[in-house]
Amino acid sequence: MLSKAYTIEFTGYYEGQEYYLRTYDYEYRNLMALLKDKICPDDFGQCGGLGRCGTCLVNVSGMANGAPGFHRNEQATLFKMGMREEATRLSCQIQVDEDLKNAVVEIFDNGY
Ligand code: FES
Repeated sequence: MLSKAYTIEFTGYYEGQEYYLRTYDYEYRNLMALLKDKICPDDFGQCGGLGRCGTCLVNVSGMANGAPGFHRNEQATLFKMGMREEATRLSCQIQVDEDLKNAVVEIFDNGY
């Protein structure tokens, strides 16, 4: 039996502009895909979600269960980029699920 789709609403910031973002579970494969579709940041998500390019960098706060653990190449890529803040993550490694409700996502300018 399929579960009922739930609404996920959160706030995004890019280049000083605030975005009210709304989606549903399973609508996007990850946060990078959602941000690329709804906000279209310049040069965003260039490796397509492999966790290697670092162009999908965001600061995330207010996730329901805290930030998720690191997956695949994320930690190594952040280390190479000199990113050490706990809230700084690769959006391609963050699932779009209920934990994102009411979170705040700030997209980095790709010049860092
Ligand atoms: S899309 Fe390349 S690291 Fe996320």
